Amino acid sequence: MDVTLRIRRYNPEADEAPHWEEYTVSAEPTDRVLDLLHQVKWYQDGTLTFRRSCAHGVCGSDAMLINGRNRLACEYLVRDAGTTITVEAIRGMAVVKDLLVDMEPFWDSLKQTMPFLVNDEIPADGRERRQSQADRERYEDTSRCILCAACTSACPIFWSDQSYVGPAAIVNAHRFIVDSRDTAKQERLEIMADPDGVWRCRTTFNCVEACPRDIKITKAILEVTQEIGKAGIR
Ligand code: FES
Repeated sequence: MDVTLRIRRYNPEADEAPHWEEYTVSAEPTDRVLDLLHQVKWYQDGTLTFRRSCAHGVCGSDAMLINGRNRLACEYLVRDAGTTITVEAIRGMAVVKDLLVDMEPFWDSLKQTMPFLVNDEIPADGRERRQSQADRERYEDTSRCILCAACTSACPIFWSDQSYVGPAAIVNAHRFIVDSRDTAKQERLEIMADPDGVWRCRTTFNCVEACPRDIKITKAILEVTQEIGKAGIR
């Protein structure tokens, strides 16, 4: 079948404003939107710019606004997208070119949350830090984040003010806050209690809808606020 791909193009070095361009490509229902973008780039217009790496929903590189919703281009199939597909860069981040956005502010927010285990104590058996299955399950959901930014770039609070750390950073903070092996919980909670932290969330659920991993993001945000309360942080 023929599919029309409407792509919002923008080259800040050459264009005064973003504009739409249409491409017709031949596709199978089981092709992914990423396959169609490759068709355009490889056979029609080599200047089309987008980011992708694994092509299998693991690396989080190719989050885009497809048919009005944040999705991974490598996971969204033509049979679900239809025969006219619109593709835009994710929102709230500066467009570098076409579908490629500047992710540096996103990484800066993530770094604030110290996304790594903190524990300098020697394990009791000298070899490994054990935890119960129940303790491990507390961060099972949030440990599945692939840092694609689909959630943060779908958040209206983030659109209006990029100083908000955003849902992806909170998800990754949650992953360590509830980890029984981590010793930096208090510091993590103080970071999340900052005016630009977790309290900025207005629970619009855009992030939940956007997440390609179906992470229960608003549940994680709620649990972080509960931990802040239990720690008596104001
Ligand atoms: S290219 Fe890696 S998640 Fe899509």
